[in-house]
Amino acid sequence: MSVSLSSNGLALNLPKGRDFRRSLSLHFMDGQKIQVNPLTYAIPFHLNLLKRCKFSGDGLNLITASTTATAESTKEQAFRGKNPKDINVLVVGSTGYIGNFVVKELVNRGFNVIAAARQRSGIKGKYGKEETLKQLNGANVCFSDVTHLDTLDSSLEKLGISIDVVISCLASRTGGVKDSWRIDYAATKNSLVAGRNHGASHFVLLSAICVQKPLLEFQRAKLKFEAELMREAEEDDKFTYSIVRPTAFFKSLGGQVELVKDGKPYVMFGDGKLCACKPISEPDLASFIADCVLSEDKMNKVLPIGGPGKALTPLEQGEILFRLLGKEPKFLKVPIEIMDFAIGVLDFLVKVFPSLEDAAEFGRIGRYYAAESMLVLDPETREYSAEKTPNYGKDTLEEFFERVIREGMAGQELGEQTIF
Ligand SMILES: NC(=O)c1ccc[n+]([C@@H]2O[C@H](COP(=O)([O-])OP(=O)(O)OC[C@H]3O[C@@H](n4cnc5c(N)ncnc54)[C@H](OP(=O)(O)O)[C@@H]3O)[C@@H](O)[C@H]2O)c1
Repeated sequence: MSVSLSSNGLALNLPKGRDFRRSLSLHFMDGQKIQVNPLTYAIPFHLNLLKRCKFSGDGLNLITASTTATAESTKEQAFRGKNPKDINVLVVGSTGYIGNFVVKELVNRGFNVIAAARQRSGIKGKYGKEETLKQLNGANVCFSDVTHLDTLDSSLEKLGISIDVVISCLASRTGGVKDSWRIDYAATKNSLVAGRNHGASHFVLLSAICVQKPLLEFQRAKLKFEAELMREAEEDDKFTYSIVRPTAFFKSLGGQVELVKDGKPYVMFGDGKLCACKPISEPDLASFIADCVLSEDKMNKVLPIGGPGKALTPLEQGEILFRLLGKEPKFLKVPIEIMDFAIGVLDFLVKVFPSLEDAAEFGRIGRYYAAESMLVLDPETREYSAEKTPNYGKDTLEEFFERVIREGMAGQELGEQTIF
């Protein structure tokens, strides 16, 4: 399908079949194609969405600790008094972009790591058992299926050891509606239940800062699990959690480096200042997550976290890139209405063809990331606040861009839908 907007020389081209579900591209009349990488662009928040979601106190998930672990209850969490080598940490989602670094970090810190993995892991199952074992070097790899509680339970049973802490870095690889509920909620819940069945008394969840303003299915799925995790801690004072809500990952911001290096303009929505984030690297985030295993000040807390330095808008990210390349800045400002138009088309199509629900959801995801900052949403002002978004780590986006200019984007592949 192809839709043209002759007034501004732009065309929306929605490919058919499987690709249609996976990508949202803007094709310019001169033949230039832009793969929409939503975190890089900014568009205004669409009025329809605002109407659909009233941002009541319920919708805005505030950053508060729901329960406070007492000194008494933490004393009863026997693992806290042990040496790391005697603490058994189960990592689910161990083969993902962040999960893999979490495993490395825990192994380096001397924990006994049990990494749950699929027989075929990675984007579109590109890695077999041997490659997975190599990637998870230093951990005890447990090939299992997190989507089936019984299977996961019996895999842990076979290990013959108890679990002290579960860390979940699980996330839907497709970002589709059903898969988000299957993984970000149900499989994550399975890891909690199976972990608890085998003795786990602490759970560290990799969530996302964007669940503060939940408009997307994966955000709702994550929030449902977060709520159940908090309830578990409320009902059992010997159980604790840490919910980590990071801002943007580097992989979500590097998509234009090679294009700009090749002389293309840096593309952004609106004036390039409509959204901002404090990007965090995989090793820095993995280190923060590993801190959550033993840090008592991170217990029973929702923890928003960004990387070092100030918040950066897409315009500022582009300026950094041109400076590093020693090129004259060349920006292409895409009218934000283009994105709204594309979403309108997708929303209409899904009414006629329900099977396109994932395509419509990807459109909404794109629009969300183009419009919303990945920063703490101040509960009082309801504005995003760079000051209230904690900084952590040492790796900067500038260093990351330098590396991509030198070495390319290897290891920074986006998920199957190429959106995030
Ligand atoms: N992108 C961003 O800028 C950003 C910012 C803040 C927060 N986040 C959040 O960070 C989280 C993790 O992201 P990520 O990029 O590390 O994720 P990822 O690379 O896509 O990894 C997902 C993990 O979940 C596993 N998984 C997915 N489907 C599965 C299934 N059906 N059965 C078993 N395992 C399955 C994958 O295993 P396989 O290897 O076997 O597929 C992989 O280990 C997400 O929740 C995301 O929302 C992202």
